[in-house]
Amino acid sequence: MSSTPKMLHLTAEIVKRVYHPGRVLGEGSDGIVQIFHDRKDNSRQIAVKYPIGTKTSSSLMTELAVLQHLQKHQRTHENIVTMLGFDKAWIPHSPAIFMDYCELGDLWHYRLSVSFFEELTLWKLFADMAKGLHFLHAEQPVPILHGDFKPLNILVQRPPGNTEKIVVLPIFKLADFARATPMNRQVIEQTKWKFAGTPEYAPCRAERKNATLAADIWACGATLQFFAFGRNPTVSMRKFRQQHPELDALNDEQIRYHLPFKFRPLTAGPDVQVNELDVSKEYQSPGYSERLNKWYSLCVQPDIDSRITAHELMEAVVPVAESKIKIGLAKRAVEEHQLKLEKLKKPGKSAVAPPEKPTASLLAPPPIAIPPTVPPRPQVPNWMTRKEALRKAMVENAQENGKIPPPLLERRDR
Ligand SMILES: Nc1ncnc2c1ncn2[C@@H]1O[C@H](COP(=O)(O)OP(=O)(O)OP(=O)(O)O)[C@@H](O)[C@H]1O
Ligand SMILES: [Mg+2]
Repeated sequence: MSSTPKMLHLTAEIVKRVYHPGRVLGEGSDGIVQIFHDRKDNSRQIAVKYPIGTKTSSSLMTELAVLQHLQKHQRTHENIVTMLGFDKAWIPHSPAIFMDYCELGDLWHYRLSVSFFEELTLWKLFADMAKGLHFLHAEQPVPILHGDFKPLNILVQRPPGNTEKIVVLPIFKLADFARATPMNRQVIEQTKWKFAGTPEYAPCRAERKNATLAADIWACGATLQFFAFGRNPTVSMRKFRQQHPELDALNDEQIRYHLPFKFRPLTAGPDVQVNELDVSKEYQSPGYSERLNKWYSLCVQPDIDSRITAHELMEAVVPVAESKIKIGLAKRAVEEHQLKLEKLKKPGKSAVAPPEKPTASLLAPPPIAIPPTVPPRPQVPNWMTRKEALRKAMVENAQENGKIPPPLLERRDR
């Protein structure tokens, strides 16, 4: 479970004595995150988050409280960022949170650093997000809503010993708990909660009035769509403005809150992606399986009662993802073995070239692509009833593994 052996062992005194500050890793509305290098061994780093001004310290106090709660009794989780310590009197502004450094950065930049990822990485991401959400929603005494689930708040870590240039199976971790909320009575009854998440990853505006765990699940599906196509899961700003000239007076920041979600099926092929789904050519993917698409569709059901829960994701999607990963790893091992054999057969000559890696591209958000004709907006498929959909998908899972389909799950974590 734990990715770091020593939790909560760092104090401000140790940090200042052992580490020296390096570059800023990220700066958001809540604070600055800066890398600190070990003075003796530059390859050992931690990440320190602290407020930019005193104004923002309350959200960091929330984040600190949530992380302390999640790590109670020295418990940590592989898919949640690990807090190594904190300081409530950090200079220049407090509190400071000392975290495990994730060398591959956040999911947004990780995705946009290559043209596309193979399906295996999408299953790994799906499983890791599901496990992290299950920990928050279903393994706490009071369920915790993340409240700002999105690619920039998911960190990517290289597994120990891995040296791949593009890591196919990294460890994905949920981070940034500044807007997390324990779902206690006041929050559920709406006397103490206001939407403060990121509109592009939030469910429809009506749903943003209430705090529900289902909003995190929606964002998980939206994040998977981002990872498939390298763009936010909404209608593009330009196109929305063309369609709504009556909103001309609003600036881009205000328009963000109105942009509707756009369902982009993960099965769409490269041409459809570019011609009909506003995907940039730079980030076109080959298209993914119907299986993955079905589970993703269940995350972005507009109706909360039709949307899958963290418990169901854990029970139904994680095992499929893990079996896909096992098969994928076995295939890779066979391919590597074949390559070695080829090399042995042709001494002196270089063996068959290794499979081409996705090309690197700039670490910049994708430009908004406007296709020549405005395509009709595809609707999220009406997935029969939630029960039927789950049943069907679980039967398929069971058939693939040669097992009897399990009984339908009861809704627990909502
Ligand atoms: N432990 C870490 N390791 C590596 N990079 C990190 C780490 N923590 C944060 N970052 C980087 O810093 C960025 C900002 O971190 P974080 O989301 O916690 O701050 P924030 O101020 O709440 O941001 P925002 O308000 O934009 O959501 C992340 O998107 C990521 O790029
Ligand atoms: Mg953030």
